[in-house]
Amino acid sequence: MERFYLTTAIDYVNGTPHIGHAYEKIVSDVIVRHYKQRCNDVYFLTGTDEHGIKIQKTAAERGITPKQMCDEHAAAFKDAWKKLDIDYNQFIRTTDDYHEKAVQKIFEKLLAQGDIYKHSYTGLYCSGCEVFLNPKDLDENGCCPIHNRKPEEISEENYFFKLSKYKDAIIKHIKENPDYIMPAFRANEVLNQLENIEDISVSRTKDNVSWGIPVLSDDNQVIYVWIDALSNYITALGYDVDNCPEKFEKYWAESHHVIGKDILKFHSIYWSAILLALGLPLPKQLFVHGFININKEKMSKSLGNVISPQSVMEAWQLEEPDAFRYYMATAAPIGKDGNFSDEDFKEKVNVDLANNMGNLLNRTLSMLVKYFDGEVKPEFKGNNPIDALNVIDKVEEHFDKFELQEAAAEIVTLLDSTNKYVTNNAPWTLAKEEKMTECGQVLVNVLETLCIVSALIQPYCPNLADKMAQQLKFDLSVKLDDLTDDNIKVGKLISKEEIKPVFLRLDSEFATNKK
Ligand code: MSP
Repeated sequence: MERFYLTTAIDYVNGTPHIGHAYEKIVSDVIVRHYKQRCNDVYFLTGTDEHGIKIQKTAAERGITPKQMCDEHAAAFKDAWKKLDIDYNQFIRTTDDYHEKAVQKIFEKLLAQGDIYKHSYTGLYCSGCEVFLNPKDLDENGCCPIHNRKPEEISEENYFFKLSKYKDAIIKHIKENPDYIMPAFRANEVLNQLENIEDISVSRTKDNVSWGIPVLSDDNQVIYVWIDALSNYITALGYDVDNCPEKFEKYWAESHHVIGKDILKFHSIYWSAILLALGLPLPKQLFVHGFININKEKMSKSLGNVISPQSVMEAWQLEEPDAFRYYMATAAPIGKDGNFSDEDFKEKVNVDLANNMGNLLNRTLSMLVKYFDGEVKPEFKGNNPIDALNVIDKVEEHFDKFELQEAAAEIVTLLDSTNKYVTNNAPWTLAKEEKMTECGQVLVNVLETLCIVSALIQPYCPNLADKMAQQLKFDLSVKLDDLTDDNIKVGKLISKEEIKPVFLRLDSEFATNKK
């Protein structure tokens, strides 16, 4: 694989980031960092979705302009991602000038070719979804099943997009490309939804929604969120109907969209249809993740249980985000819902990162210093029964299916067996019995394994991996496929002073004191 383009959903800026948003960005960043270890050309796009009635209303409630609120909240998202070490290449805001202009051109092209038409309409509008709902989409109380509130009845003359025209082509694409929608059970869901698909409204009157991109050829209408929002994936690469720049040509063919389950329909059906209408290839893959719940409850403003990534970092006094990243990225099997609880967080990172990994490195380096003054002798090398290289293949296979939890479990299993190897071979007994070569071999075998572990854990815990690699004098920039089992150099590896704990156990008192 030479190239990899990954996008996240762009977050609405009517609020500040919560751990659901953070979950998606962390999962995406872990995937991106893994692919950077495998290919040279990786591009990672994230951003914010800044138009629509919800944002207009929230700003009005706060007595500020929508733009002021967008600026404030977009900055909060950027700041949160910085603190979580989300290493994106580009942050797009749908209020960016280049995006707005490109969206206007996209709209005009679709209008000119007859894919968009004007139509008077009465419909049920959910401002949570920013979409007109079909009465059969509502729950038994007549509410939107996602936002749990009654949609508003709206009568307007809007522009409509001929979604129904593309129905058969989308069904064909999904059936012919079983990897298009991951995990596969989501593809069936989409095929069912496609059965009853109707044309969709893609504009609103300016009287009802002023905070949107104006339709170029019609003063009374603004382009309504989904054409605007979804187009970010191509406008970010410079596409604007008239131009398909090199950046677009380079990355679009390798595009992977990471999205939550609630916006699958918009991506698999609306977006696929828009791209087909524009004559562009469909994205390579949609990766659909589940939701993060808090203490097994759905996170919601009404339950008052919405938490920010920042509050977790502060409660646990985390200077680096690695523990939170690790917990989030492994919180759920592919596509399923996950859970955040303080107890579980503490338990998981203390066992996996502090005990299994950090302590193993610390103990092994300390023994190397104690018995050999930190020196690796030539006879300690080349006799490793632990097959860590094999784990690289397994981790790569899991990542190819976006199985982050399973990939991490492979690393933990490797650590478990390495800890067992130390217990079974008891290097402290070998030293006591003066079997120094055997003792040195055991220690170096463990350190070799930890080099591979530092590379494999790096996408999840970049700071922790750096600290490990520094003490192992191991070059983390080597691509996974070029790694060997010969990374520990003969000679002085480390002194007593250089040995530092790479990960401190989480102390539950921190969390409780802060609450
Ligand atoms: N703006 C749209 C997306 C447009 S993409 C072209 C939107 N924004 S959102 O802010 O509501 O959600 C952004 C992403 O966060 C979505 O993928 C959504 O599924 C995800 N999540 C929102 N709450 C979540 C959880 N509780 N858990 C995990 N992800 C969640 O939708």
